[in-house]
Amino acid sequence: MQYTTEKIRNMFLEFFKKKNHQIVCSSPLIPNKNCNLLFTNAGMNQFQDYFLGKKTYPFSQVATAQRCLRTGGKHNDFQEVGYSEYHNTFFEMLGNFSFGAYSKKEAILYAWELLTDKKWFNISKKKLFVTVYYKDHETYNIWNKIIQLSTDNIIKIYDKKNQKYESDNFWQMGDIGPCGPCTEIFFKKKNNINNLYNLDDKKQCIEIWNIVFIQFNKINNNEVIPLKIMSVDTGMGLERIASVLQNVESNYQTDVFKKIIKNICNINHLITTHNKSLNVIADHIRAAVFIIQEKIIPSHEGRGYILRKIIRRALFHGKKIGIKKTFLYKLVDCIIPPVIKNNQILDNKKYYIINILKEEELQFNITLNNGLKFLQKTIKQLKKNYIHHKTIFYLYDTLGFPIELTQDICRDYNIQIDQKQLDEFILQKKNNNNYNKKNTVNNIIYTNFKSKFCGYKKYETIAIVNKIFINNHETSKILKNETGVIILDKTPFFGESGGQIGDTGIIYHNSIFNVHDTKNFMNATGHLGTLSSGKIQLYDTVFAQIDKKKRLRIQNNHTTTHLLHSALKKILKYPIEQKGSFINDKYLRFDFTYPKTIQSREIFNIENIINKNIQKNIIIKNKTIDFQKAKQKGYIFLKNKIYKSKIRTLSIHNVSKEICKGTHVKQTGEIGIAKICSYKSIAFGIKRIEMITGITALHKIQEKEKKIYDIQDTLNSDYLSLIHKIKKIINYCETIKQENNFLNQIIITSYKKKLINKIIKINQINFIMHQVNIHNTKSIKLLIKELIKKICPGIIILFYQYNKKYIFVIGVTKNLVFKIQATHIIKIINKYIKSTGGGKPELAQCTSENIVDTMKIKTYLQDWIKSTILYI
Ligand code: SER
Repeated sequence: MQYTTEKIRNMFLEFFKKKNHQIVCSSPLIPNKNCNLLFTNAGMNQFQDYFLGKKTYPFSQVATAQRCLRTGGKHNDFQEVGYSEYHNTFFEMLGNFSFGAYSKKEAILYAWELLTDKKWFNISKKKLFVTVYYKDHETYNIWNKIIQLSTDNIIKIYDKKNQKYESDNFWQMGDIGPCGPCTEIFFKKKNNINNLYNLDDKKQCIEIWNIVFIQFNKINNNEVIPLKIMSVDTGMGLERIASVLQNVESNYQTDVFKKIIKNICNINHLITTHNKSLNVIADHIRAAVFIIQEKIIPSHEGRGYILRKIIRRALFHGKKIGIKKTFLYKLVDCIIPPVIKNNQILDNKKYYIINILKEEELQFNITLNNGLKFLQKTIKQLKKNYIHHKTIFYLYDTLGFPIELTQDICRDYNIQIDQKQLDEFILQKKNNNNYNKKNTVNNIIYTNFKSKFCGYKKYETIAIVNKIFINNHETSKILKNETGVIILDKTPFFGESGGQIGDTGIIYHNSIFNVHDTKNFMNATGHLGTLSSGKIQLYDTVFAQIDKKKRLRIQNNHTTTHLLHSALKKILKYPIEQKGSFINDKYLRFDFTYPKTIQSREIFNIENIINKNIQKNIIIKNKTIDFQKAKQKGYIFLKNKIYKSKIRTLSIHNVSKEICKGTHVKQTGEIGIAKICSYKSIAFGIKRIEMITGITALHKIQEKEKKIYDIQDTLNSDYLSLIHKIKKIINYCETIKQENNFLNQIIITSYKKKLINKIIKINQINFIMHQVNIHNTKSIKLLIKELIKKICPGIIILFYQYNKKYIFVIGVTKNLVFKIQATHIIKIINKYIKSTGGGKPELAQCTSENIVDTMKIKTYLQDWIKSTILYI
């Protein structure tokens, strides 16, 4: 039977349909926001809440073919790709799931039947062996007694270094969440594998199916709590099982990858089809296409950064195998058709994906070339097989060269990196730059607690301390100088969401806790901060007070974002779609799709409409209603966001209607004034507008005005005649320049005659070294070029003094450069005085800040030439 990848996927789903499973579509690659992951990394992600018993799924047994990406966090295969035959960043995971419907025995029997039955995958039982978690005796016995697998073929896997639950056979979704023991089925690639504990033998085996028994919820590093019902979560990588059933040596030799690799070779006229770089490119382009179709664009943070890393690594490998032209975007065509057919996605997004890739590729080529040049030079100069972490950081921070690429290149050259030192250094740098202030606590606090938000109306409240976390661990008190998270029963602090930043302020009583950020952890509002005096304990009564001034500015900016959104819709010719926003107390940023360049005339119109609506002082109303109803009534909402059934709506009469949780002004007049301060295109078809409001806007306008006053003063002009005056000055400069050129020409001619008479003969070489009264290197170079024609073979050094500096220009005739070069002479001058400079073999220049006796240099050089160049 011909097992194409498509056929295998269909057979898997068909098998479980026959076993009364509901077939469910793959969820998007971007998990819903309750999930702590950047990307979907397993088939079970979309069912997380059902495993935890928080919700009940309409079906108790389901099967899926889930699109997954493993590029970070607990499951990170990014660096493996290219070096392992069986790892992919993007892959499809075939899985069957039971929410309390069946037992371990049934799960194992299903897997065994599908893999070994003649009607299905027909794999020889002799070729399979399994691993089990050492404490899971039930599973061990099922394999041994029911499936009748010999004990040689059942391997117990222990916890790593006695760390609880850290085992290949205790599967965890992430740092917290559903988890449990698992049993994995392996395929032996060779017949004569006897000792499965032997490493070499193990290399000849591939893990093909993981069956996880979700029995626990991990709430922190050391603690798992048992779940009421046991669920089953299985996962089989489609690309891996395809490699087994197609009887090939690697995922990259299966039908899907063969096609992509063939295309890479055809497009770039490459002959070889077996190369690790080709595998990396094939894997990464597939991943990039799937990420971009989720409307993620390359950027320097979060998902966008992962996308950028993937694209850049693919491009780097392209370069490695000699691809010179842009090529990645040309591969979209060979990935999209099968995807559409199988997953009903993409299609008209193809053009969009192609353009995003093309733009990123062009941009990165510049960075890549600079970084590679620097790294290769550094590697050449290394004395040991070790590269300093500061060099890697320089490449990354200053040249924009991704750390992963440096790692890849160093791996190829067998050069060591001290990863620990590098990580520590990056962290230290980030701390110094205050990057990390907001992230002293990351989003891994787990609590079912609900706090009440009273900050729409109040800036201060009395509240009770309900939870305290330090280093993500729940605790009962926080002491002076400790940093942590406090959760109150009610709070006026707005937790960062919908683009609006979290509030800052203080929580105080007999103590002061400085809140430097506020974040939402499920339904609880976490106040992130440091205690500067006293102590705070659980159930203390405290006052919570936000920084009101800052909040008022944030509100101005948030309401202006809504005014901007509506003005864009009104002024621009084509429809726009919001792509993201960011609102803090200083400015607001609004990203949206728009296919055309926005003209300055349109920008002014947008600004005018916004300010007219501010002057109208419109009352802003909000209401909590059903999401469905809000949709029917035409409230704007974000398509990719998941909303609760009851949502808050915000309307600015006759101007804007949006679903929004953020905090806003009561009447538009409070904003005062709004000004667009920047407009740019950030990716293909995506525009960004930034605005400032109120007093910030006024200050900006005043600052610009002050600059104009300064220019007027400097030019001794007034506002009305300013442009006229500037044009006059430009014309005047132009005339001076021409006159200057003319005079220079006269000076050059006269110097030429004069200098010819200064030639000194040294061993057949004509040598001139002379101070000139031309304070312009360009003219001196012209003069040297003229002289060179007359004094072959010769060396000319002309110099002038300017602002206590000496500037030397050195020319060497062509027929001498094989003996002595102009740059060489700089080195010799450098022995005498300290200078900086460079140039080409025939013409170079250097500058010295030292006051020098140039006669001494001249004598020194003459002696040096005499003793070095004995004949030509
Ligand atoms: N969740 C498990 C895995 O990803 C089984 O599906 O391996």
